Amino acid sequence: MTTLLSVRDLRVWLDTARGPLPIVDGVSFDISAGQVFGLAGESGSGKTITALALLGLLPAGARTGGSAILDGRDLMTMRTAQRRRTRGREVAMVFQDPMSSLHPMLTIERQLTEHLRYQLGMSRKEADERAVELLTEVRIPNPEAALRGHPHQFSGGMRQRIQIAIALACEPRLLVADEPTTALDVTVQAGILRLLHRLCQEKDLAVMLITHDLGVLSALADTVTVMYAGRVVESGPTAQVMGRSRHPYTRGLVDSLPHPEAADRALVPIAGEPAGPESRPAGCAFHPRCRYMEPPCATAVPPLIRIDDGREMACPVDPLVASLAR
Ligand SMILES: Nc1ncnc2c1ncn2[C@@H]1O[C@H](COP(=O)(O)OP(=O)(O)O)[C@@H](O)[C@H]1O
Ligand SMILES: [Mg+2]
Repeated sequence: MTTLLSVRDLRVWLDTARGPLPIVDGVSFDISAGQVFGLAGESGSGKTITALALLGLLPAGARTGGSAILDGRDLMTMRTAQRRRTRGREVAMVFQDPMSSLHPMLTIERQLTEHLRYQLGMSRKEADERAVELLTEVRIPNPEAALRGHPHQFSGGMRQRIQIAIALACEPRLLVADEPTTALDVTVQAGILRLLHRLCQEKDLAVMLITHDLGVLSALADTVTVMYAGRVVESGPTAQVMGRSRHPYTRGLVDSLPHPEAADRALVPIAGEPAGPESRPAGCAFHPRCRYMEPPCATAVPPLIRIDDGREMACPVDPLVASLAR
């Protein structure tokens, strides 16, 4: 497995009236080609800001630290012009709401072929042919007719497929999908997720799948990284992170998932609300909500400790971590 993107100690601060506010606080992960990398965590944990930082799409006034190495080049220190070329060509992003990235007044053809003609220098004919191929690839029925349509003529799921086709137009090596199915109903969601999985395998594409819904990742992601309040609390192969989660926060997320084979089982939500970046607790940010909290949790930020093959976890009171730290 070759690592395509290696993110180390990524930090993002946003400027506020009261000074720079840390939003993402030292996040590290690796993404491999041909794999789905899942980034999980409740709303507000910093997932979207992490993705926007990698793509150079942060709001004005944001400052960043750390590195994100793609093919020996650091996305974080690239100059704007170079990053603009990399974006779309090597890293492309799809968003929760396709209407925010599709132009409502332009035909699908125009929006798809624009990339092909101006970024890849294709002729009109080549671009038209490729546009049909791309729509076929994302399973849009009757692609020739679809090209002549406008976004509002398609359902939410079809619009999401079109957004993915546009993202694929320049053959990126990493596709960042931020809550791509959150606005869709369950059956449509499953179709989009199957599509992402197929693209990943057939095109050796790396997919960074961002979601607050661990259930979405359980079937699809090869590895999962769980964020809480701007930091990674647990990461590793999906089967371990979800099947034998160790961090109290991950366990809380897993316990709050509905179980198809035990539909009558009560869901156990995590008590309390995550703190926003202005009021992030000292030490382990999860400690005020944690059942296993002990005094050290409130003072020092726990480091990520490697606990088994490829899995890391940041909880100082976990017995396994405590024994490894000795
Ligand atoms: N433009 C912004 N200005 C100020 N705070 C922001 C901005 N965008 C996001 N935040 C804050 O950053 C934190 C992380 O946000 P985000 O990355 O969107 O979380 P997630 O995608 O995990 O739900 C949130 O607490 C949010 O309130
Ligand atoms: Mg988000």
